[in-house]
Amino acid sequence: MLVIIREDFEDMSREAGRLVAERLRRKPNLILGLATGGTPLGLYGELIRLHREEGLDFSKVTTFNLDEYVGLPPEHPQSYHHFMHENLFRHLNVDARYIHIPAGMATDVEAHCEWYEEAIRRTGGIDLQVLGIGANGHIAFNEPASSLGSRTRVKTLTLQTRQDNARYFGSVEKVPRYALTMGIGTIMEARELLLLASGEGKAEAIRAAVEGPITALVPASMIQMHGRAFVIIDRAAASRLEHTQFYSRSLEEAVIQRRNTGRPSTVDS
Ligand code: GLP
Repeated sequence: MLVIIREDFEDMSREAGRLVAERLRRKPNLILGLATGGTPLGLYGELIRLHREEGLDFSKVTTFNLDEYVGLPPEHPQSYHHFMHENLFRHLNVDARYIHIPAGMATDVEAHCEWYEEAIRRTGGIDLQVLGIGANGHIAFNEPASSLGSRTRVKTLTLQTRQDNARYFGSVEKVPRYALTMGIGTIMEARELLLLASGEGKAEAIRAAVEGPITALVPASMIQMHGRAFVIIDRAAASRLEHTQFYSRSLEEAVIQRRNTGRPSTVDS
């Protein structure tokens, strides 16, 4: 796991943008896992800028989103379909046929979840999965006590998550009770993970995920088991980390540190 601590949200977003852009330049038909929420918005802004100013090409990219609220149609302003379209897809040249987001209105939910897993498998698997983190340590909508080997399925949202997301809906009652989400097992199969977190409100979740024990009570702690996980966070989100000697300020610094300590020079683990 490579932990990179940046100054603030903008700085975190730029660093994450550099990483995603580098992967995309290396593999134009990248299979990219995407997340929703306030945290990846800066990264998405950065990708849009790179597309506009530097011609970063998304035409061959396939995307898979982590999750969607059950019962919200794609055109609902709070659906993740709507979020992704508004905040990313409509600004890029992504081919609509290559976009995948779980269908919150699916009638046969189980069959849909199986189809989603199969669709990921058919592409050869996700190359890079972007992740946020819930204040309670959830990733996607895998709430605490989710099975660490779970696959795409329906999850009941905790009251804390519904309260956290109430700001988007106006009131907690309006936040759906269920969501479709990739499982932790599904996420762990991505070849690389990129976890982002910003602000004091995420500091405890980041401490538990990065330095705490691996436990289903903090689903994000599973990233410790991944061979190629990048955790790019800002100072505020890093404020409760204790073992800062192991962390870096940039991807380059991480490479240099590894060289100096005689460890492999590739940015890994
Ligand atoms: C939701 C999403 C998660 C996201 C989390 C944090 O619950 N399902 O994928 O990581 O919110 O959101 P934010 O980035 O807005 O804090």
